[in-house]
Amino acid sequence: MSAKDNQKVYFGDKKVSKESKKDGVENIFTKVSENYDLMNDVMSFGMHRLWKKSFVETSQIEKDDICLDLAAGTGDIAKLISKKVKGKTIYLCDQNNEMIEKAKERSLDEGFYQKCNFNVSSAESLPYEDETFDKVFISFGFRNFSDKKGSLKEINRVLKKGGSLQILEFSAAQGKNFSKLYDFYSYNFIPKIGDFISGDHASYDYLVKSIRTHENQEEMLELFNQTGYLESTYENIFKGIVALHRGIK
Ligand SMILES: C[S@@+](CC[C@H](N)C(=O)[O-])C[C@H]1O[C@@H](n2cnc3c(N)ncnc32)[C@H](O)[C@@H]1O
Repeated sequence: MSAKDNQKVYFGDKKVSKESKKDGVENIFTKVSENYDLMNDVMSFGMHRLWKKSFVETSQIEKDDICLDLAAGTGDIAKLISKKVKGKTIYLCDQNNEMIEKAKERSLDEGFYQKCNFNVSSAESLPYEDETFDKVFISFGFRNFSDKKGSLKEINRVLKKGGSLQILEFSAAQGKNFSKLYDFYSYNFIPKIGDFISGDHASYDYLVKSIRTHENQEEMLELFNQTGYLESTYENIFKGIVALHRGIK
């Protein structure tokens, strides 16, 4: 194991080894998978649907593109992509088997299974050949990765030259008063909603803390630049509660 592998990373508001973060994240998503979609709707007042729609709508997908929905969860992004591509050209990859099983069931129920390929694997070690994808999407998954720089390099490996990476993620809310209001809501209500809907206070406490310890907009941009992405940019959505970062290989 190299010194880099021994580096501590944030898991919620605690610094742990990369291995412990990976295990901790796995446990959380196994626990929340059952009520995951309902919780997203309740916590964000349905706004996550609009953010995701705009994420895919503005990504200039061509009908022949080969797309990776990484940290795919239950497949929200893959479903939106499926309306834009032809053929079996969408790859859903998530390290959590329960989430991928939910995505499979859901794609069958909602009629986009035939366009999808499914893989259980972590972003730090992707099961794809070099230069496979035109576009890689990550929606609300990146802050959970145990090796963010390593995964950005790994994604760069599987992107075609000229292909793009797009990351939608919670970020730093802008403006003092708005940030205070957002902090009040998230620290006081989100874990309680988690408790009420799924009897799980701890996982939603992790969610709130993981947002606060994740890189902010400029730090994310720096990560893109350090790992070989070109023309990297970001835009804030909903006063920076969410940010959309894009870069080209
Ligand atoms: C908050 S969910 C997001 C799911 C979906 N993309 C969405 O927007 O609703 C985060 C997902 O990231 C996955 N995940 C976390 N760390 C990962 C990693 N290192 N590699 C692959 N998937 C990971 C989790 O298993 C979980 O399904």
